[in-house]
Amino acid sequence: MDNALRLQYLEAMGIDVWVPRASTQNEQQESSDSVIDNDEPETQESATDNWDSLQAEVAHCTKCALCATRTQTVFGSGNKQADWMLVGEAPGQHEDEQGLPFVGNAGLLLTEMLRAIGLAREDVFITNILKCRPPNNRDPHADEVESCNDYLQRQQALIKPKIILAVGRIAAQTLLQTDEPLGRLRGKVHAFNNTPVVVVYHPAYLLRSLPEKRKAWQDLMYAVQTIKKNKG
Ligand code: URA
Repeated sequence: MDNALRLQYLEAMGIDVWVPRASTQNEQQESSDSVIDNDEPETQESATDNWDSLQAEVAHCTKCALCATRTQTVFGSGNKQADWMLVGEAPGQHEDEQGLPFVGNAGLLLTEMLRAIGLAREDVFITNILKCRPPNNRDPHADEVESCNDYLQRQQALIKPKIILAVGRIAAQTLLQTDEPLGRLRGKVHAFNNTPVVVVYHPAYLLRSLPEKRKAWQDLMYAVQTIKKNKG
């Protein structure tokens, strides 16, 4: 995305673009040594599961038909001990090509939204409901969600996040097992396996819908307040 356009979007959301990261980031654990894709030793894994086997299982997964059309799986990326876990819908074209979540235009906006609340991508863990791209970016099918569900649950169990951001309607409805529209799900604290869940607009939607941008900022601030409260 063009820089000027990006700034325009953030301004429309009422976000100060160069908010110093120190404020909320100090409350994050400073564990840049636990970013996926490096060779650092792993810590705090459950006795029955670990990142290596989970990542290998996802990489070779053939549980649903998406394995035939994907370029590669998109496991997720970021801090394996993050307080914040972000869950989107599914990889798109760029994610499928690069093997990383949220790297297209929506991803750039998501990165800036995180930055506005004092978080870098490396501070959080970002993944999707589906680990493979649905053809033409169609909505996930029920059997695909079902096939991937175990991977998401195991990621959550390994990370033990303090908050989950459900990014967009599909992620929210899937995580919360509901058909409620996104407008009714935002502004509340839900739960997924006992972890608080806050719902936010999908950045791809925000790129198309200028009037919703301020609401997106409200959602992020609500998530910041929620995690602060839960930390006591
Ligand atoms: N949209 C998503 O929901 N996830 C991605 O990784 C990219 C775009």
